[in-house]
Parts: sequence; structure tokens; C-alpha cells
Amino acid sequence: MSAAPQTNPSQTKFFEVRVSSLMVGRVLHHDVYLLISGQPVLFRKKGDVLAADRAKQLREHAAAKLLIPEDQRQAYMDSLKSAVKDPEMKTDDKSKIIKETAYVHIHDLFTKKDIQPVVSEAKNLVEDMVSFVSSDVAAVASLMGLSAHDYYTYNHSVDVAVYSIVIAKKVYGSDNREILIQAGLGGLLHDIGKRRVDLGIINKKGALTAEEWAEIKNHPGYGMEALRDLQSVPEESKCIVHQHHENFDGTGYPNGLGGEQIHKLARVVAIADVFDALTTKRSYHDAISPNEALNIMHGMQPGKFDPNLFKSFDQKFSPKTGVTLASDFDACSPQHQKLIKK
Ligand SMILES: [Fe+2]
Repeated sequence: MSAAPQTNPSQTKFFEVRVSSLMVGRVLHHDVYLLISGQPVLFRKKGDVLAADRAKQLREHAAAKLLIPEDQRQAYMDSLKSAVKDPEMKTDDKSKIIKETAYVHIHDLFTKKDIQPVVSEAKNLVEDMVSFVSSDVAAVASLMGLSAHDYYTYNHSVDVAVYSIVIAKKVYGSDNREILIQAGLGGLLHDIGKRRVDLGIINKKGALTAEEWAEIKNHPGYGMEALRDLQSVPEESKCIVHQHHENFDGTGYPNGLGGEQIHKLARVVAIADVFDALTTKRSYHDAISPNEALNIMHGMQPGKFDPNLFKSFDQKFSPKTGVTLASDFDACSPQHQKLIKK
């Protein structure tokens, strides 16, 4: 254990990080605390090196909570950013770090009062994601392979950003970097309007009342309002946030737009949103395989998705699996369990 902290941990604010985001075998640019009996205890200080065997022990100890002082957040984020640019680092390790960085951003996006600086930082993150996805096929596979974990809004936002960049890359090609960034940022921010929706409604286990459901359906509009005056967010990304629940056949919300009235990138993110909602493990069902998810989406109400974009997402559908989905499936409904029948 390292020397006693110079600051009083009881008066310091912390944020939590995952073990996999710490640089093993490298000099740390920030302190790391362990939460022991509810108290932060200095574990490694700035300048120390975290040995591989100690990191392994921490990973195996599922209850281990790692904390970094809030005032060293920038040093932590900078060390993640420089790792992503390190040519020596393996693709899989880089993709883990990109995701870890993203989780911290997303936490801030949903909890910080002033979203302007966080949104600007999130844009830098999406630029890193786009560079990574554009670099090679292995990077795409690695980032997408990391996506079948427990579901909650933060992870979901990061996954939707990744899938949206991948679909946009297929539709527009890697050379259209600006479009990939617009798609990724829109994907990352698509549910940001949920900041204004009561958590009691978002996490409700029982049936929603008509009023509660109407409030959930307000989240695209709330998101648009939150971003409207932010110059750092491209108009295309704002459109995505506002239109990601519109359906190609005009049956979606909030405005019942259809076809070309819906921004093309919003149509891309709508596909990514449902695909991730299906392929991610939830408390009430295991992750559905990508092939099954595509199959289910193929059978959804005709016209929910842009048929051409959906085709370019994946033209190969597996045989029917016996899993069906109600036509009113909504990636933002807490009631999915009612919609999936085996
Ligand atoms: Fe949504």
C-alpha cells in the first residue's frame, strides 16, 4: 500500500473508474483510491506504476471500487487519450480505453448541470472513435465486440455511437469524416433528453400510465431543447437527437415525420438504437445474438426503418429463430419484456 494521502479523502470529491481503464505497467498521472468500508483509501499515487499482477487481482475482485479525485479528472482523461494514440498499444486495449473514456463522458452528460463543456469534450471523444473505426477492420470488430454487456443508458449511448459510426461508414465511406462525427455524436447524445425525465419513470418496473409514457416520449424534444444553443454540436446531430424515434412509415414520434422528412442520419441512428437494445443483456433476458436481432428487426412493422439503410446495415439474415417482437417495440420503453416472446 502506498504512503498516506496528502489530502484528506473525506473532503475530496471522487469519480469512479473501471479497473480496465488503468494503464498497467505505466507511470500513473493521477492518484487512485480504493473504496474500503465506504472510505476512500489511497491505493496508488501519481508517479506510481500499477503492476500487472495487482491489476489482475483487482479485476478478479468484483467488489473493488476504484476512485480518482475529481480535481485530477483531466489528468486521467489525458492519459486515456494519449494511450489511444500510442502505436505500441494493442487494438483490443485501445478499444477498451475508448469505451472507458466514453463512460466517464456519458456519466457527465447525464448528471452535470452545465452540459456545454461536457458536450464539447464528448465531441473530441467521438473524433477519436471515428479515427479508430476508420483505421482498420480489426478496430471496428474490437469496438463492436465489446458491446454485449449489461444494459443501462450510459453503455447504450456509447454502443449506439459506435454502431452509428459503423453504419455511416458503410453508407458514406471513411472519407466523409465530418458525417461520421455527426452520426457518432448524435448517437452518443440521442437519449440526452432523458436528463429531464423522472428516474422513477425511466426505471419503473410495473406498467406505465398513459401520462408516464407520454413523458418518456417527450425525451427527443427535451434533448433538442438542451442542445439547441450549443454551437459545438452540429445541426445534423441535433436532428438525430430530435428524430431518432421517428419511423420511416410516419408512425413514430414526436412529429410523425416519414421517409425523407427524417434526416438520413436520424434514420441510421434509429437502426443502431434498436439493434443495441436487442443485442444487449437486460435484467429480464440474455443478449440476443446480432443475427437474431437483425432477423427480428427485419420482421418488425414494415416500414419502421429506412429499407435501403437497413439493407446496407446487413444484407444477410439468419433463418427464423422463433423470437418475435411486437410492432410497437420502442428502445426507450422500460416495458421491453412484454414485447419479447419466446
Ligand atoms: Fe430514445
